[in-house]
Formats: sequence, C-alpha cells, structure tokens
Amino acid sequence: MPYYSDELIEEIRSANDIVDVISGYVRLKKKGNTHFGLCPFHNEKTPSFSVAQDKQMYYCFGCGAGGNVFTFLMQYENDTFHEALETLAQRAGISLPRQETSARERQEADKRTKIMEINKAAAKYFYAQLRMEQGKIGMNYFVKRGLSPETLKKFGLGYSNKYSDDLYQYLRKQGYEDAVLKDSGVVTIDEQRGGRDKFWNRVMFPIMDANNRVVGFGGRVMGEGEPKYMNSPETMVFDKSRTLYGLNLARSTRKHYILLCEGYMDVIALHQAGFDNAVASLGTSFTSGHASLLKRYTKEVYCTFDSDGAGIKAALRAIPILKEAGITAKIVKMAPYKDPDEFIKAEGASAYEERIAHAQNSFMFEIEVLERQYDLKDPESKTKFHNAIAGRILEFEEELERENYIEAVAGKYQIGFENLRSLVQHQGTRVGIAKERRPLKSGVQEKKKKEDGMKQSQKLMLTWLIEDSSLFEKISDWLGPEDFTDELYRQAAKILFAQYEKGKLNPAGIISMFTDEEQQREIAGLFNARLKEVTTPAEKEKALRETLIRLKENSISYRSRHLEPADLEGLQKLVADKKNMQKLKSV
Ligand code: CTP
Ligand code: MN
Repeated sequence: MPYYSDELIEEIRSANDIVDVISGYVRLKKKGNTHFGLCPFHNEKTPSFSVAQDKQMYYCFGCGAGGNVFTFLMQYENDTFHEALETLAQRAGISLPRQETSARERQEADKRTKIMEINKAAAKYFYAQLRMEQGKIGMNYFVKRGLSPETLKKFGLGYSNKYSDDLYQYLRKQGYEDAVLKDSGVVTIDEQRGGRDKFWNRVMFPIMDANNRVVGFGGRVMGEGEPKYMNSPETMVFDKSRTLYGLNLARSTRKHYILLCEGYMDVIALHQAGFDNAVASLGTSFTSGHASLLKRYTKEVYCTFDSDGAGIKAALRAIPILKEAGITAKIVKMAPYKDPDEFIKAEGASAYEERIAHAQNSFMFEIEVLERQYDLKDPESKTKFHNAIAGRILEFEEELERENYIEAVAGKYQIGFENLRSLVQHQGTRVGIAKERRPLKSGVQEKKKKEDGMKQSQKLMLTWLIEDSSLFEKISDWLGPEDFTDELYRQAAKILFAQYEKGKLNPAGIISMFTDEEQQREIAGLFNARLKEVTTPAEKEKALRETLIRLKENSISYRSRHLEPADLEGLQKLVADKKNMQKLKSV
C-alpha cells in the first residue's frame, strides 16, 4: 500500500463527518448525542447500531461492529484501508499525492490496466453480438434456458461469432498490439496464422472480480459438444484460485451466509430466483484462496453442489478447507435433481428455500458419506463403521462439541449414546487424546476466562476516559498506558494518554492509526464498552475504583512475571507500584 502521512489521513478523516457519511447508507435517528439505526452488518429489527457525532465513531451493541469513518467503508463496501481513504479524500475534495513507483512497477501496472481494458472491450463486444442478427442462435439458447432479459443484462451475458478472428480484428482496430493481446487470454497469436479468437460460436459468460471488473470468460457450446465449457487461461488479472463467479453481486447481499455452487448456470439461476448470495468456483476445485476470499464477506457457507459423485467429492474437499479458514459449512441437498439450476426450474424458489432451511451439518454429511463404505447388516462391518465414527468425533477439540456430536450421531444411526461415548473415550485414551486433553483444556479455558475479564476491565477504563476526560486527573497518579497488558490496548492507551497531555482527545483518530480492519474494529470496541448495572454516580465511583484496582493488580502481576532480571528500572517501578497499591486500596 502507498504510504500516506498520519496528518493527511487525519485531515481526510476529519473532513468527512461520520454521521453524514453513514446517513448515505443507513437511516439514522437522533437521540441525544447519538444517532441510532438498524445495523447494516447483521439482521435486526430494533436499532442497536449507534453513531456518535462527538466521538466520530460508530458501534453496534448487537454484533460488535464498530470503528471510524474509514472502518465503516471497509466493512460496508469491503474496501481496503487504502480504497476507503481514496473514496473519502475524493468526497472531501482533498487530492492525494501521487506515489513514486519504479519503472518496472509502472510497466506492470500499465499492462494490467491494458489487459483489464481488453477484457472489458471483449465483454462489450460479445454482449453486443448476442443482440444482433448473428447472435440470435445464442439468444435463443439463453431464452430456452429460462433466462430473463434482466438476468442477461445483470450478468453481461454475450455471444462469440462463428468467425475465428473477428474479436481479434476488432481489438486490433481499437489499437491493441499483439504483444499485449497475447497475454490477455481472449486471443491466441500464432506465428504462421496470426491472431485467432479463443472463443467462437459459444454463449459467453464474463467473469467479474469482486470489484466488477471483467477478468476472464467462460464460453459454453449451445447444446451438445466438447468441451462443454471453455474458459480464459490464467492471466495477470485472472487467478482462478482467487476468483468466485457471482461474488461481485453476492458481496452486497443482506443474508448472513453465502451459497456456494459449482457452475455458471447455477449461480445465474439462483440469482434470478432471488438468491442474491450465490457464487461458484469455476472449472477449478475449491481452494484455500477461495475460502479466504469468502471469509472477507461471511462466516457461513452453504454448499449447494451437484448431487452426483463429483458433487459429493467436491463437498468433501471443500468442507475442511472452509473450516480451516474459520467458516462454518453446511450442505444443501439437490437430489433428486442434478444441480441448483435444475432444482429451481422443477420446484421453484420456495422449495429451494426449504432445502436451505434443512441444510445439513457438514460433519453429519461426512458421516453419511462414510456410511456408504460399510454394510450395516454385517456385524463386523457395522462395528468398523462405529469405530470410524468414534475416530472422527475425536477430531473435535472441545469436549462439549464431542458430546453433542456423539448425541447427534447416536440418535441418527441408532447406536446407544453411552456405547458410542465409551467407544470415543476408549479410542481417545488409546491415542492419548481425551485423557490428556481434558484437564489441560479446562485449565486453558479457566485462563481464557480470566483474560477475557481483564480485557473487559481495560476496555471499560478506556471508554470511561474518553467519555469523561476529567477522569484522567483522578487516575493518573495510579494508572498509565503501561498498565494495559494487552498489546493492542496498550498502544491505544498510549496514544489516548498522549492526546490528553496535548489537551484534545480524538478517539476516532486513534482508529485510523491502525490500518487493519480487525484491529480497527477492536479499538472501536475498546472505546464503546458498557457496564449494564452502573447508573448512579455512587455506583460509577465504586466501579471505577474497583476497575482501577483490578487493572493495577493485573499489571503488577503481569510485570512480575515478565520482568527481565537486568531491568533495574522496571524493578524499582514495580516495587513502587506495589507500595502505591496499598495506598490505593486504603483510600
Ligand atoms: N466446467 C468447465 N469446463 C468443462 C465443464 C465444466 O470449466 N468442460 C466448469 C464450468 O464452470 C461449469 C462447472 O464446471 O459451470 C460445472 O459443470 P457442469 O455441472 O457440467 O455444468 P453446469 O454449470 O451445470 O452447466 P449447464 O447447466 O450449462 O450444463
Ligand atoms: Mn447445470
């Protein structure tokens, strides 16, 4: 990312009032100092999304989304920090300085731009052909497949002519040289025969990246014929393992999950039926690159693959990849139909909705597939199946999760719950998992709980400080930024204390010092902690004192554990702090 100074970033931030900006996306109602609305980041019926004009920050008490005006665009538009900065600079009429780049970088960037242009020109060309006399055959094909004019437009569908070089000639006339055309993926340059089109006599599906730029094409024969689909090769702008068909549309769905399918036509049929959250990985199997792309938009993916063997295999492959990325996977069954396209045609949208509602847990799906390898009428084979199940259940780290799956599987396959549980425990002891893990786990959980509590106290303190800066006077004898033991919190506290010294608190400015969206969200959370029970001034006083003591005690014990033996200064400070602590407790 190009480098911009903190001053410039701050100038851009303060030139864009957060209430103005967010009002362009969310209907806000003013209540006191704060504006409220329905959260755009999760589904809700009563507003818990708040925008504070004085803090120049937003925060959702329902889902924890929060940040400053940059964070908002990053979350809402899925912008990078840099993109959000550009948008807001433009909105405020501030020009960004041009960045220095090397000659080689410039050349690369020029070429990428050219290839994007060529793809776009080709898409327009195919789009126009579909609507001409020579494209009738393509149009008839799409109509026969039930696509509406709006759908054709939404997906930019087109047709490539029967001639083998008309697109090539067209692009040459537009001024593109062979050197760049040969890297664009839409034509091939042959030394003897010259330029030829990659696609002819096919209906064309432009493939867009998440930002609506055409990066490649799929072309289908109309009817039978091999290969059924042809796709652009990978180019400088087309990385198949990081591109999902339909994501440019699905990214702005209001649904909390994404439908993942196998084919172009599935995505298109689903969108046409109102499922605006469908995407597909194209002609390649699902990769971790796809998963991390999806992770930017959702936490839950419903796989709606073909019902044949290949579809089942694809699902079995995708499930662990999704899990690895931290995405929950569910399986939507299409049987007795081949794929979502055919399902929707035969049964309609509400039947499909029904299937989504009954989507299967991915583990239960895996067990169901596993079952097919065994003959449950044969006691030996059945025992092996049960053992295999136990082995799979052991892969869950949490005991509670194991218990829940034992219950679910036992119920479904009519195995006694206790029997299955002891089988799991027995296998676990044998491989040394269950026994060792349990005490270890609970220890870890205990520690985690304590850490969470401490984090919460640190958050509360920071929130109180920005809401009432007179508190700095009250606490500064006792507490400093170094007492915040979480690294991120400490950084934020340092900046906040420095701002206080300079006489002006600016929490929203602190957020943009962190360019990572996750960090921005966490910092926003820091300044928006709530303690429900506190209402009266006396209660507040009490809570403040208790929190102060907790933080200080935690900080002292943390530093005792982490003190370098040679750090004399640190030791002196620690001793002084311990003494001070006695005083603090007695006031
Ligand atoms: N695919 C491909 N090349 C092929 C066959 C398939 O790239 N020769 C990819 C395409 O992206 C296709 C997806 O795999 O959309 C799924 O293939 P398939 O199920 O055969 O096609 P459908 O999407 O069902 O297409 P249609 O309904 O038009 O037959
Ligand atoms: Mn199909």
